[in-house]
Amino acid sequence: VGPFVHSTSLTDLEIEEKGAIGVDENGVIAFVERNVSQAGIEDVKSRNPGWQDAQVIKLEGNGFFFPGFIDTHTHASQHPNTGLFGKTTLLDWLQTYTFPMESSLSSVPTAQRIYQSFVSRTLSHGTTTCAYYATIHVPATNLLADICLKRGQRALVGRVCMNSDLSPEYYRDESVETSVRNSQASIDYIRSIDPKGEIVKPIVTPRFAPSCTSDCLSAISKLAQETNSHIQTHISENKGEIALVQELFPKSKSYTDVYDTHDLLTPKTILAHAVHLSPEERQTILARKSKISHCPASNTAITSGCAPIRTMLNEGLTIGLGTDISGGFHPSILENVRQAVWVSRHLALQTGDDATKLSTEEALYLATRGGAAVVGLEEQVGGFDVEKEWDAQMIHLGSVDEEGSSDAVVHEGPVDVFGWESWPDKVEKWVYSGDDRNTIAVWVRGRLVHKTALYSGPKDAT
Ligand code: GUN
Ligand code: FE
Repeated sequence: VGPFVHSTSLTDLEIEEKGAIGVDENGVIAFVERNVSQAGIEDVKSRNPGWQDAQVIKLEGNGFFFPGFIDTHTHASQHPNTGLFGKTTLLDWLQTYTFPMESSLSSVPTAQRIYQSFVSRTLSHGTTTCAYYATIHVPATNLLADICLKRGQRALVGRVCMNSDLSPEYYRDESVETSVRNSQASIDYIRSIDPKGEIVKPIVTPRFAPSCTSDCLSAISKLAQETNSHIQTHISENKGEIALVQELFPKSKSYTDVYDTHDLLTPKTILAHAVHLSPEERQTILARKSKISHCPASNTAITSGCAPIRTMLNEGLTIGLGTDISGGFHPSILENVRQAVWVSRHLALQTGDDATKLSTEEALYLATRGGAAVVGLEEQVGGFDVEKEWDAQMIHLGSVDEEGSSDAVVHEGPVDVFGWESWPDKVEKWVYSGDDRNTIAVWVRGRLVHKTALYSGPKDAT
């Protein structure tokens, strides 16, 4: 019970100050009521048969419920490198920072430490669903799936395929057969621990075209088809990478054509970055119904470029946000909401076309409903609609004492509400100056999966 905020379309946010949302024992939203006074909770219960004994979680003070964030592209295995990129760009960044880090996850205890920490970190930032790249190692990849299932974070977990000599000898698949066998093993394991895929699902993960030989791409695509799996990879991130793809696949018309001719562009394919695609490539991706993960912080950090999101939205592509740790420097989708807005403003400054700018509402849509569609969960999550599941965060905003005495100001997080703000103002303050301290509780399918000391509700709210 309390205020809630969610996207109702790409351009519109609904802000309901007096909400009451009924979540059943399966974590499914049974009703959404508006304009309910605190005293009216009993009326809500009596209007909804069977809810008399329902446990009530009240959002007290300044704040609101918001849908859980969806991270459509991140590398859990690169967590220890977060914030490290120096002067590198993609291809030397991979060799300098990334492959050495990822190869250390051949040790299961190392993977345990890294993955436990990363899942805690992303949950604390309100990320309720994540599309993860692990590494080439099957035991560590399976462990990431175990951790997500145990902690209750929805996840697509991908064992990375890379057999070409772009990768160092100490960190690559020995053969196409190794790529297929180990990917199959990980798919089978993830399906054995969550047969219905309610929390964790496998995702076939050819790293990117330069990491895989043509045989490998074909074999992996066949595996995805046979196992009806999601697919994730990188596309058109960096100009040097695009030139390398042209050199490695001289018969292909474009980067997109490499994936298309290997049957990797499906409605269940997530393509990260998509910074430098031609209009023709975008049309192919649209026609195949493949999805785009926009990773604005990463694209700036390793100087990949500014993805033309307005253009891609206008063309009808399905887009979500990705943190892309550790190309990206921050595990928070809220940070990437800001970065998506900033990148669009820089593009607008270059083009002189104000229509290029993304609004706050649009960026929040990409972070929730857009992301849900990218990972194939648009029926289940992304907003507060009846029959969707309760994946949500409780956002708390600090308040300033009315007396105005500096001693009395309570600093409970980075956002203070002074009392004159409208509701849209409060949401903007959170978007542009908030962080994980404002996320005081997080639920996935009705299960409480993260809380801070400021959360005073029931600890086992299922
Ligand atoms: N392209 C291939 N591998 C990677 C990776 O790990 N991160 C990013 N950002 N791009 C890639
Ligand atoms: Fe990436």
